[in-house]
Amino acid sequence: MRSDANIAGPMTDPVPGPRTESTGEDVSRETPPPMDDTPIGRAAQLAVEALGRAGDSLPRPGQTRVIVVANQKGGVGKTTTTVNLAASLALHGGRVLVIDLDPQGNASTALGIDHHAEVPSIYDVLIESKPLAEVVQPVLDVEGLFCAPATIDLAGAEIELVSLVARESRLQRAIQSYEQPLDYILIDCPPSLGLLTVNALVAGQEVLIPIQCEYYALEGLGQLLRNVDLVRGHLNPALHVSTILLTMYDGRTRLASQVAEEVRSHFGDEVLRTSIPRSVRISEAPSYGQTVLTYDPGSSGALSYLEAAREIALRGVGVRYDAQHAHFGAQTEQSMAEGIQ
Ligand SMILES: Nc1ncnc2c1ncn2[C@@H]1O[C@H](COP(=O)(O)OP(=O)(O)OP(=O)(O)O)[C@@H](O)[C@H]1O
Ligand SMILES: [Mg+2]
Repeated sequence: MRSDANIAGPMTDPVPGPRTESTGEDVSRETPPPMDDTPIGRAAQLAVEALGRAGDSLPRPGQTRVIVVANQKGGVGKTTTTVNLAASLALHGGRVLVIDLDPQGNASTALGIDHHAEVPSIYDVLIESKPLAEVVQPVLDVEGLFCAPATIDLAGAEIELVSLVARESRLQRAIQSYEQPLDYILIDCPPSLGLLTVNALVAGQEVLIPIQCEYYALEGLGQLLRNVDLVRGHLNPALHVSTILLTMYDGRTRLASQVAEEVRSHFGDEVLRTSIPRSVRISEAPSYGQTVLTYDPGSSGALSYLEAAREIALRGVGVRYDAQHAHFGAQTEQSMAEGIQ
């Protein structure tokens, strides 16, 4: 078992222990163990491997893939998935834009993007018809990654949109007039099925549904799927659920594997082979304004998001993903159940 020691985050002072004054004679002459025999050395090695692997470029899609990350259930990992997949795709060489469509602004926070009330934001794009290019900011830590932030103003947009012309397709129009070349746009939706989520569904071709491996995981999904059907039928014929991602998978519990099995039998091929483990590193990263990819690149969470991104990129160009060749450290339910973490 590897340690999740944080090698990229802020350094902590060593715990001050009792000190003895030593003369030269007392100093131990033992050679320190090789780096990768220590937990920190192992983590460092994994981090280097992970970043090296991230540098491998993946096939780029022929045209921009607009992926809507949605699930009206709260706290299932939508934002975490959006920002970490986006960072993974950018580290693999893609140009990626995250659109924060949640008034909570969690994706903006997690990407270290300023989003106080005066910052030009996705609210201005939706309500004031400001060009998207005027609100997009680069993410400092990750080359090729950009974010259109959400501010608290967006909380009122749900109501303000009601009386506007083309209220369901304002985001779609803004994206269509955005001229910068992009490989992926990932849209982080709020935990509701109101007009903000409808705008995302009209703007995208693909829906990615994160499902938390917990009891009640599938409850409420029917309503999301009906909304996807409605939008496809009336406003956006290209829309389809392309990807299901199992999140917060805890390999030690039977419940997690039961939920995974149920989701796989229900959705089949849409479910990614890679699942995201429950990981403290993943949940700590946003408080440093970072994705787990830069916060702790060698952690199981970072490796899993890198692998999920690889799977998504390969599927996009029609290449069958072979879990047998998953990179070391990435997780399938089987490896997690066997305790290979
Ligand atoms: N794999 C994981 N391991 C541990 N904690 C996680 C993991 N994924 C997400 N979390 C934590 O779970 C909480 C909910 O995640 P997140 O904010 O991504 O969900 P969400 O679906 O976007 O929520 P909301 O519906 O409020 O927008 C957060 O505190 C996040 O840090
Ligand atoms: Mg969220």
